Amino acid sequence: MADLSCTYLGLKLKSPVIAASSGFTDSVLKLQQMEQHGAGAVVLKSIFEEEILFEYNKTIRDEKEKTGREEFLDYLDVRIRQENIKKYIDLIKLAKDKISIPVIASINCRSSYEWMSFAKEIENAGADALELNVFVLPSGFQNSCEENEKIYFDIAQSVTKLIQIPVVLKISFYFSNLGQFIQKISHSGIKGLVLFNRFYSPDFNIDTLEVNPSNVLSHAGEITMPLRWISMMSGHVGCDLAASTGVEDGKAVIKLLLAGANAVQVASALYRHGTGYFELLNHELSEWMDQHNFETIDDFRGKLSQIKHKDPAIFERVQFMKYFSDKETLL
Ligand SMILES: Cc1cc2nc3c(=O)[nH]c(=O)nc-3n(C[C@H](O)[C@H](O)[C@H](O)COP(=O)(O)O)c2cc1C
Repeated sequence: MADLSCTYLGLKLKSPVIAASSGFTDSVLKLQQMEQHGAGAVVLKSIFEEEILFEYNKTIRDEKEKTGREEFLDYLDVRIRQENIKKYIDLIKLAKDKISIPVIASINCRSSYEWMSFAKEIENAGADALELNVFVLPSGFQNSCEENEKIYFDIAQSVTKLIQIPVVLKISFYFSNLGQFIQKISHSGIKGLVLFNRFYSPDFNIDTLEVNPSNVLSHAGEITMPLRWISMMSGHVGCDLAASTGVEDGKAVIKLLLAGANAVQVASALYRHGTGYFELLNHELSEWMDQHNFETIDDFRGKLSQIKHKDPAIFERVQFMKYFSDKETLL
């Protein structure tokens, strides 16, 4: 019988399949169900830097309109922040009380200032690790690549100095020199990198001429992005790698572990199939391991990473050269 236990961020997991941060991980009831169905760990829904600032600004506007006074600002600043933080801290404490798998808190941030003090409170609340969902959309014409990348290094360095629990960075693939960035940031003191975050993307409604969100949930084909990059980065980084995006079935979990992932995160599949889906994912993984005589995850993890592959160039290939002329091979 295959042993699915493994280590991620120095934490012992019963399975490498973990719940990604999403609306599915914001209630203790669902976290309990996930544990019962075999999730290796849970990443809580993020507390958003914008969420806190937005609520702060809105309350200030409302209060100013009502009273015309401004001297309450300092008090409100503290109170609003405390209310938001308290809700999140309560979630961590309750989760730690009710489930025994690791609880990873999450902050969605894009600067290294406003939310820094939350990190310490999150640690004190008992979170086993902290995942930072950092995203700077590189669309500004004034900022250089170096300036944008510096934000990630500043955040990683400040937070890892501040807290003792493992810090994980969840990043996108919007970097001009992705491989080098991943390698450098992996040595910044963080214990893990999640490749990759997936974002809200705007789409156009051509009937109403409105801009709407599109493809909120991922589809299975999207696994190719984390698959390639985890394969290429595995063995070249100084921290653990977790995969995220496009994990729709057990085959995807197996592929990402073969690429070298230490853990595999699932979000969209939970929205589609519910918390019980962990059982199927673990079952498919376990069955495949039995069929291939792999007793532990380490027996095959990274077996198809670029560094171990007999033809490393296969991971660097980007053009569809041989497919251009032959329509039959595409169908
Ligand atoms: C409805 C929804 C809410 C999400 N909320 C968060 C969040 O709060 N923080 C975060 O880091 N990622 C969030 N994500 C991103 C997921 O954690 C995950 O990285 C992404 O959906 C790709 O994984 P998937 O293909 O398994 O869905 C959210 C995703 C969805 C679909």
